Amino acid sequence: MSGPLKREEARDGIQDIDSAGLPIEEDFVQVDNYDSGLCRAESATLSDFEYLKDIGSGAHATVHLVRHYKDRKLYAMKVLEKKEVVNSVRPGDAMRELNILKGAQRPLLVNLHFTFQTETKLFFFLDYLPGGNLFTYTALWEGGRLPEATARYYGAQMYLALQSLHDAGVIHRDLKPENVLLDENGHVHLADFGLSRRVGRHGRSGSFVGTPFYVAPEILTTREYGAAVDWWSYGVLLFNLLTGEVPFYGKETEQIFEAVLKRQPVVRPRYGVSSKAKDLLGRLLEKNEKKRITGLGIRKHPWYKGMDWRAVERCEGHAPDWKAPVDMISAETAAELVGMPVPEKDAFNDDQRTSPRAVPGHIADEDQKLFEGFSFDNTGVLPQVKNGDW
Ligand SMILES: Nc1ncnc2c1ncn2[C@@H]1O[C@H](COP(=O)(O)OP(=O)(O)O)[C@@H](O)[C@H]1O
Ligand SMILES: [Mg+2]
Repeated sequence: MSGPLKREEARDGIQDIDSAGLPIEEDFVQVDNYDSGLCRAESATLSDFEYLKDIGSGAHATVHLVRHYKDRKLYAMKVLEKKEVVNSVRPGDAMRELNILKGAQRPLLVNLHFTFQTETKLFFFLDYLPGGNLFTYTALWEGGRLPEATARYYGAQMYLALQSLHDAGVIHRDLKPENVLLDENGHVHLADFGLSRRVGRHGRSGSFVGTPFYVAPEILTTREYGAAVDWWSYGVLLFNLLTGEVPFYGKETEQIFEAVLKRQPVVRPRYGVSSKAKDLLGRLLEKNEKKRITGLGIRKHPWYKGMDWRAVERCEGHAPDWKAPVDMISAETAAELVGMPVPEKDAFNDDQRTSPRAVPGHIADEDQKLFEGFSFDNTGVLPQVKNGDW
């Protein structure tokens, strides 16, 4: 949709109101080597990959570790059920996730290599990040709290990740530890663009989305908001890394929202968080988005004084205090997983070759139109079309 956002349209927060009347920065979808030709787009099939392990699941997707038979590379295969996408509140999110990922070939963002679809599923093949997500990682530390130097380093990496998205006119809208993934040296990369939106620089959006603990007050009230919502979530994330707690807590969603709107965050003295860090948290968790610290202001904040931003962006060496999880699967240890039985109800057991119509997840033909143009290949390594594979 284009044209200025109308307040009436924003009233029902479920609708997607994408635009702020500003030109959308189309250049974000341009990727080197991107070839939308039919051969490439339909060149991969599920049988090109061996299943190694289940590695995660989120609100929408399941994620599996796979290896390509030909190039022997590991990938994280993110799978969405078309039926769930079609029945969801925002069926367009899957295609939007694809478009954002296509453009997100930048350091500190999880990169997409290719995608394809079957009758019932959508597959994204992403960089595999073996260190798990930040939620599971912080649990390895006493009290679920990271040392301040580590939190500061991860804060700097997430700052650069978010800033690169915003520079391209994209708001992430779902920043939280589960969506921040660690590589084999403990550097963090931003993942999960399932709720992201391209709004153009300084653009606004109007959908009611996010995760309650991380959602910014203006999403709850005005329902017309800009990139500052990500800096709010960034403040919640930093608070969480430094204290092991969330700043706005409640047992029910309504109580959390009440706290987000009315309560002031409190960092307990026993956590020994520095005054500079507390100052930054206060400025990020500013309820008035116009007064909130954003972008360059964060980078220049005294807490980040002396930060070597180039080294942070290049992921040099190990991240501070990096503890590799004991079950981390590297390229070498992945070899041991070859031949693992594929769990039941897994994407790899989705045998639709014999009778597509009988597949439980089958969707109506007209709904398939939603996924036109989904297939994408950014690698150039895949074999040509295999007719009739799916
Ligand atoms: N590229 C990846 N490498 C390693 N693990 C991943 C990768 N992508 C996702 N995961 C794991 O799967 C989980 C869910 O993935 P995510 O993309 O967040 O799905 P959802 O959209 O359902 O939230 C993540 O929290 C993470 O633990
Ligand atoms: Mg997620």
